[in-house]
Amino acid sequence: MESYKFVISLLFTISIFRFDALANEVDTYDFLMPNVSPNKDELYLCTPIRIAPQKNFYVVGFKPNASMHTAHHMLLYGCSQPGSNDSAWSCGEMQSNEIDDRYNTASPCKSGSQIVYAWARDAPRLQLPPDVGFLIGRDSPIKYLVLQVHYMTKFPEGKTDNSGVFLEYTTERMPRQAGVILLGTSGVIPPNKVEHMETACTINEDKVIHPFAFRTHTHSLGTEVSGFVVRRSRKGDIWELLGSKNPQLPQMFYPVVSRTPITTNDVLAARCVMNNTHTHAVSIGATHKDEMCNFYLMYWVQDDSPLEQKYCFSPGPPYYYWSRAPQNFDRIPGRDFNVL
Ligand code: CU
Ligand code: CU
Repeated sequence: MESYKFVISLLFTISIFRFDALANEVDTYDFLMPNVSPNKDELYLCTPIRIAPQKNFYVVGFKPNASMHTAHHMLLYGCSQPGSNDSAWSCGEMQSNEIDDRYNTASPCKSGSQIVYAWARDAPRLQLPPDVGFLIGRDSPIKYLVLQVHYMTKFPEGKTDNSGVFLEYTTERMPRQAGVILLGTSGVIPPNKVEHMETACTINEDKVIHPFAFRTHTHSLGTEVSGFVVRRSRKGDIWELLGSKNPQLPQMFYPVVSRTPITTNDVLAARCVMNNTHTHAVSIGATHKDEMCNFYLMYWVQDDSPLEQKYCFSPGPPYYYWSRAPQNFDRIPGRDFNVL
């Protein structure tokens, strides 16, 4: 495929100008699938845009253009390099027997992968707080954005799809850069059992992050996903709830419960409660018959770049629980802490 066909610069898009209270010019970029036609079930497709390299852009809002009847989920990745130069490629992680020969297979990013936005279950539009934006382009490691859409079922002959996201962005400098850290696990849920899938990571960067939104994601077995910041002291650990949600509700970004800044030596932790009602074990995996345990934390940093660390994954059950974590936690929350 011609590699430059897809290179659409944000600079040259025709855009509708809109003025908000601060008189920032906010443009919209329609980042949509190029009329793809999945001819296999459970297909993940990716499409890229290259960001004009001489300029900084701040993404300040996301307006999804998709329906849960077609798209199981959408993820927006920031990449240093995209996984492929094709206009669309197959970008699932575990679909060796589900490869669609219409599309080449590659990961979403070749390098510098991070998540910028996520959507599932008809979640509505997301607008970042005032002065907050995702920096992309010249001074950012994000040189490309890659949209991933998970299509559940193959399309009938001739039907195409252009699901995607309307990106709201500005070239005006935002003093607060947004970032996302994704907490998640691998692992297995035994049959007929309620299992905890847990992960935790100590922040070892010299930064202060201000959490403002969280999002949970599981497939059908998740009943509750919670994120915490663990403050460590000689008197013991304090587990501060960032957010907790039933993942069967719309999987949008919700405001965090505690906005207290998070800094070096604090620990980010997440737990998914999974109720396996099946008579077979269910593993973490890419299809909707598998499970996922994800907690996304969105935050801003004042006049600084976001955390280098973009992911916090554990092996999950039966190998990893908070009770066995190297941090030697105490006062681990029980099943019945205050759930919102
Ligand atoms: Cu999905
Ligand atoms: Cu999933």
